[in-house]
Amino acid sequence: MKHQYILGVSAGFHDAATALIRGDGEIIFAGHSERYSKNKNDAMICPELLAEFCEYPIDTIAYYERPWLKQLRNFVSGQGIDWSNITVQQVLENQLGSWLQHPPRKIQTYSHHLCHAAAGFQTSPYDRATCVVIDAIGEFDTVSIWGAEYDGSGCATYKKLWRQTYPRSIGLFYSAVTQRIGLHPLDEEYITMGMAAYGEPRYVEECRALLEDNLHIGIDPDWLRLATNEDIAASAQVVTEELIYSVMRRAQDMNWSTNLVYQGGVALNCLANRKLGEYFENIWIMPCPGDAGNSLGAAALAHGRRLRWTDAYLGHEISGEYPVRTLVDHLQSDRIVGVASGRAEFGPRALGNRSLLADPRGSDIKDLVNEIKRRQRFRPFAPVVLAEHVHELFDMPRGWHHSPYMQSVASCRRPDLYPAICHVDNTSRVQTVEADGSGIRSLLEAWYERTGCPMLLNTSLNIRGEPMVNDRADADRFTKEYGLIVLS
Ligand SMILES: [Fe+2]
Repeated sequence: MKHQYILGVSAGFHDAATALIRGDGEIIFAGHSERYSKNKNDAMICPELLAEFCEYPIDTIAYYERPWLKQLRNFVSGQGIDWSNITVQQVLENQLGSWLQHPPRKIQTYSHHLCHAAAGFQTSPYDRATCVVIDAIGEFDTVSIWGAEYDGSGCATYKKLWRQTYPRSIGLFYSAVTQRIGLHPLDEEYITMGMAAYGEPRYVEECRALLEDNLHIGIDPDWLRLATNEDIAASAQVVTEELIYSVMRRAQDMNWSTNLVYQGGVALNCLANRKLGEYFENIWIMPCPGDAGNSLGAAALAHGRRLRWTDAYLGHEISGEYPVRTLVDHLQSDRIVGVASGRAEFGPRALGNRSLLADPRGSDIKDLVNEIKRRQRFRPFAPVVLAEHVHELFDMPRGWHHSPYMQSVASCRRPDLYPAICHVDNTSRVQTVEADGSGIRSLLEAWYERTGCPMLLNTSLNIRGEPMVNDRADADRFTKEYGLIVLS
């Protein structure tokens, strides 16, 4: 049987990505352009990314937003119109060059927030779900709530139940705060979130007022100039959580489903995510909920049916067996080791295939890892733990019995034993690993057998200032730069 192949594309703003799916719902590939070009948050699709799937006869290209609507919004918001990116044909020619036309391919476009909803729903295990999308901005939408279900013939259907439009935007507010405290917006929001625990929410009222005026944080009121970055971050986190939970309450009250599918860049706020279980019984956040994930969402919409989701290992492949035994040996002797094996993770988190791993026990390990990562002192590292042991070590929040993609914080029960993976408020961004046959699962089992510790410290493997390691050549550069072995 000849399969259809659909390529989803998300590009032109930040973090360009592609996703390739086959007509039977198999996700063949999903990956970020930055991992190939080495430009962090690369907005352009690079040729090396396209080369990953050159052997597939792609019939359809699905694009993740409506370019002319986006240009209209730019016009309305006073940013002017980019006449070279008005039609989807222009946008794709700019992004894909001659690759687009040889052979000619069918092109479809979908609205930005619908792509987010589909990226979540069609990878979720649910037949019916309430989809909540919260991001900085789509074409005009900044928050949307959808009722999603499969009809009698298995086609995904979406009913838009509510929307909020630009300029009111939770994501833009959080990005503006991130910029205000000297970090990179649309990239380093996770650092703002980590900083929040070190401050006091002294400026909640002031932050609310900024939002009410739709002024975000572009102006410079006195309080903002006098406040510490930590207090600004703490205050913004409180206000952001208020806004997220008011959307969740609204979505819950619609009584569409007790299953929540949550997407958009704001869904990466794992601190806010800890309370989602108060509104919904089941929670699914596809591990790449931001705009890069919309490449998969657009492809899903063109496909129209449920996708076969197994895990987030969808990117470039470094072939060979996951080197379990040598990793355990290195962890025992050196306490820290790199691994680059199997397929790269789709999404911003290293989940064991492009990871720096360390023994999480003891007080000095954080400094040892930080010698390589050179991160801000306030940022903890994440734990990866055998799922069956997670409740011995962490109080998992309601709705987060397991957390395979590191999407919620949980309180650590033994911060005295594992200070390196605990934040100042004793929370950790937990990754649980089921008996799923993955390399990281086999490693944790072997590590547990050898040491009695069911957990490792896990942080992304990247050269400072660069995206995550993608291929073996990147891994070798990492070793050269830091003198630390990276096993494949
Ligand atoms: Fe988005």
